[in-house]
Amino acid sequence: MTKKSSNTVWHNATITRTDRERLHRHKSVILWFTGLSGSGKSTLAHAVEDYLHRSECSTFVLDGDNVRHGLCSDLGFNDEDRIENIRRIGELAKLMVEAGVITLTAFISPFRSDRSAARKLVPHGDFIEIYCQCPLQTCEERDVKGLYKKAREGKIPFFTGIGSPYEEPERPELIVNTHQQSLDECVQSVINLLLSRGLISQNLLVK
Ligand code: ADX
Repeated sequence: MTKKSSNTVWHNATITRTDRERLHRHKSVILWFTGLSGSGKSTLAHAVEDYLHRSECSTFVLDGDNVRHGLCSDLGFNDEDRIENIRRIGELAKLMVEAGVITLTAFISPFRSDRSAARKLVPHGDFIEIYCQCPLQTCEERDVKGLYKKAREGKIPFFTGIGSPYEEPERPELIVNTHQQSLDECVQSVINLLLSRGLISQNLLVK
């Protein structure tokens, strides 16, 4: 795994996170979407981003499938690789919070211990866990990418929910039921949470 260099010295930035937040006119935070494949994480993260962006907020979505084409293209889906995947995303999201950005991550992130480790990387309150709750059966019926079918045929080992576990969050900041609530309702729940925590202000938001 990682080799630690002993010859590096931390350099403090002249421009601080607070300076960047002031420029952006909102606080930075990690919105960590977790849930089964097909539970709507990416769809919701992008819809929230779309709304915030139209409201002139500074945002970025880190998306599982995309990140696995680049930063994490050397990783597969056994437990060890998933742990490393989430570790890297946690570190990247931490940097983006320092950059003053509302950072939305859409990864299955099936293991509680990995999500908890990512949470601990940033100050209390900067990590908001959003559970996209959706029954396995519904995700499997949707099968947007055709992967559940392949997994059932034994063509994808360790597929989450089938050959590999998904550990539900115990105390997420927010649960959205993506099989019962509309996309707009889910977006509104996330926005309400950001407002109630004083991370964004109502007068920034477009109608
Ligand atoms: S995580 O478990 O490490 O958090 P991540 O969110 O990056 O997973 O990637 C999940 C996406 O990779 C799924 O949405 C799916 O498109 C694809 N995928 C390919 N193989 C698997 C697998 N064995 N289990 C889950 N998802 C897989």
